[in-house]
Amino acid sequence: MATEVDDERVVAARAATTKLAMALKAQLQDAIASGGPASAVDACKAIAPAVTADVSEKRHTSIRRTALKVRNPDNAPDAFERKVLGRFLEQIDAGSDPATLEYAETITEGNQKRFRYMKAIPMAVTPCQACHGATIAPDVVERIRTLYPDDQATGFAPGTLRGAFSVSAPSE
Ligand code: HEC
Repeated sequence: MATEVDDERVVAARAATTKLAMALKAQLQDAIASGGPASAVDACKAIAPAVTADVSEKRHTSIRRTALKVRNPDNAPDAFERKVLGRFLEQIDAGSDPATLEYAETITEGNQKRFRYMKAIPMAVTPCQACHGATIAPDVVERIRTLYPDDQATGFAPGTLRGAFSVSAPSE
């Protein structure tokens, strides 16, 4: 962690990621319960960007999900996010638990300063494996290939780094 925990912006950013994680999880569980994982792929395509935009608006901050290997190309990392994801991978290699990893920095873009915060998203068995694991049911694979022809987000083992939440806000 590069910043003191009592930094208000870090506390707010962390709260926004928790809010988004919970909202996405609830929607995903509902979608899987009502139609199984294959139809949940369709639901996720519609719901994930909307839930993400909604949490950003309510928290007055820009928050999104990103990863080195993405399903939706809109989630591809920028240079800062790529650097931090690489750093998370190094920390995991060195024995850190991905569930504990976060990073904050104020960066300069042009002549504008921005507060940036990222929190690692670990790969879990349930429910993640059904759609991001090494063995995925054929009907799920079919929905993923149809909706995301450039998908790179399969083959993740539990406990590895799936991606990260990323918060960005103007800073004086
Ligand atoms: C029902 C299938 C399904 C399940 C289960 C699922 N995901 Fe996804 N995941 C998707 C889809 C579809 C997207 C692309 C959403 C979009 O269009 O933004 C996605 C996107 C993501 C992204 C954003 C980066 C990217 O690849 O575009 C992350 C991070 C992610 N998932 C993590 C997880 C984690 C962690 C779990 C388990 C808690 C999980 N997912 C469970 C289908 C699923």
